[in-house]
Amino acid sequence: MELSEVIKQRASIRVFTDEKVVIADLKEMVRRAGMAPSVNNYQPWKFIAITNSHLLHRMASEVAHKISTLPNSDIKRAGLVKSQVEWFATFFENAPAVIALAMESYETVLEKGVSISHEEINRMRNYPDIQSAGAAIQNILLTAVDLGYGACWLSAPLVAKNELESLLNITSPWKLIAFVAVGKPKISQKPSNRKNLDDIFELME
Ligand SMILES: Cc1cc2nc3c(=O)[nH]c(=O)nc-3n(C[C@H](O)[C@H](O)[C@H](O)COP(=O)(O)O)c2cc1C
Repeated sequence: MELSEVIKQRASIRVFTDEKVVIADLKEMVRRAGMAPSVNNYQPWKFIAITNSHLLHRMASEVAHKISTLPNSDIKRAGLVKSQVEWFATFFENAPAVIALAMESYETVLEKGVSISHEEINRMRNYPDIQSAGAAIQNILLTAVDLGYGACWLSAPLVAKNELESLLNITSPWKLIAFVAVGKPKISQKPSNRKNLDDIFELME
């Protein structure tokens, strides 16, 4: 499909049919994710594709449990807010496949030459590792559309990061960064509204 068409058609898909995602297609999504730019071309990522529904349910129940144990805010509808968030954080359990992105720490060229900590440089540069992850994830989302699937980026489940890392055997120096749920869309989803170009574009000539 034309790139501009893929970009226009992409929308977050959260409800899927039971149809499996072909493993070769999952590999193609990850292959293209690995072609994304990354800080110093460090490619500090790996991708774990999960198609085991039992494991997905266990992951979702850890997330739901974690959300239920978070202290409620003062607002009257705090419980309702939490249950809404819970759905957006756990719907992945019904996806035919979920791709988890894990990252390892990278060493910038700068930190070899200055006495500033890795953490501080990372903060100054607005977390180039996380920025790199975003580029890779966007490639997965666009490839999913290109191959006839729908997908949704998830960070909400990360409230249970430690529990999820343990279920996925992600150990130091690797860290879980995000999930992408993938499958055939159950209903066709229109792309959501976007700001006008004039509101987001500024030209300095
Ligand atoms: C960093 C990031 C984290 C997100 N986390 C979640 C999530 O945990 N659960 C969810 O349902 N959607 C999540 N989304 C999807 C956004 O809600 C969605 O992209 C946004 O509402 C715009 O809709 P669209 O993707 O259909 O254009 C996330 C998106 C991004 C970029």
